[in-house]
Amino acid sequence: MSDELGFNKIAGAVLATGLAIFGLGELSNIIFKYEPPAKAGYAIAVSTEAGGGGPAVEAPIDWGTELPKADVAAGKTITAKCQSCHNFDQGGPNMTGPNLYGVLGRAPGSHPGFAYSDGMKAFGAKQPVWDYEHINDFITAPQKYIDGTKMTFVGLKQRQDRINVIAYLHTLGSNLPIPAPNPAATATAAGGASASGAAASGAAASTAAAAAPAATAKK
Ligand code: HEC
Repeated sequence: MSDELGFNKIAGAVLATGLAIFGLGELSNIIFKYEPPAKAGYAIAVSTEAGGGGPAVEAPIDWGTELPKADVAAGKTITAKCQSCHNFDQGGPNMTGPNLYGVLGRAPGSHPGFAYSDGMKAFGAKQPVWDYEHINDFITAPQKYIDGTKMTFVGLKQRQDRINVIAYLHTLGSNLPIPAPNPAATATAAGGASASGAAASGAAASTAAAAAPAATAKK
């Protein structure tokens, strides 16, 4: 009888220990399992913000809108990154890379006295001019954009950095006109554009609201 009690005590202790271990396991499971949904929820939020348009497709830049309001001085500051390889002065020398004065509007791979890569020459054969879009695509990730280019620069990842740099390049003897603003061309492409459209109509609404009391006051 007392033997049986002893057994029961031991069995009870074993069971309790087992339960405690199981409980800890469950608890850590619960804690551990809690994380992935939190991350998944975050990922969903991000892709929704991007307009659900799929991976890494950027809205086209409306140059007629962006260039006039770009920060040219900031663009010039960013070109410190380029200056180890490029000179930006009119009549300045070629360095590791060609002189970039007047590059916007000139033919890719055409600066006199610079030995371009075959990749850049091939690009120049199909793209007659460095316009805003092509320079933007190139400086985003040079070696991804032009196979075999010898511009070993990682690229400018920030959209606004590129816009500012291109606005600065535009001040350096460029013959390219700034196009008329055309927000409609970019509005359909991405969520970001429609969000700014919403902001714009919000601004229009508040302007109307501000105008209304004035109209009332006149009566
Ligand atoms: C590590 C050196 C290096 C850096 C840094 C660099 N470049 Fe270049 N870049 C080059 C070389 C080399 C070429 C010529 C590419 C070829 O022939 O394939 C070039 C070509 C170019 C061209 C084409 C010029 C033409 O005549 O067709 C542009 C535009 C350009 N670079 C812009 C920039 C800008 C803007 C930056 C800074 C944000 C920059 N580069 C940073 C080395 C560099």
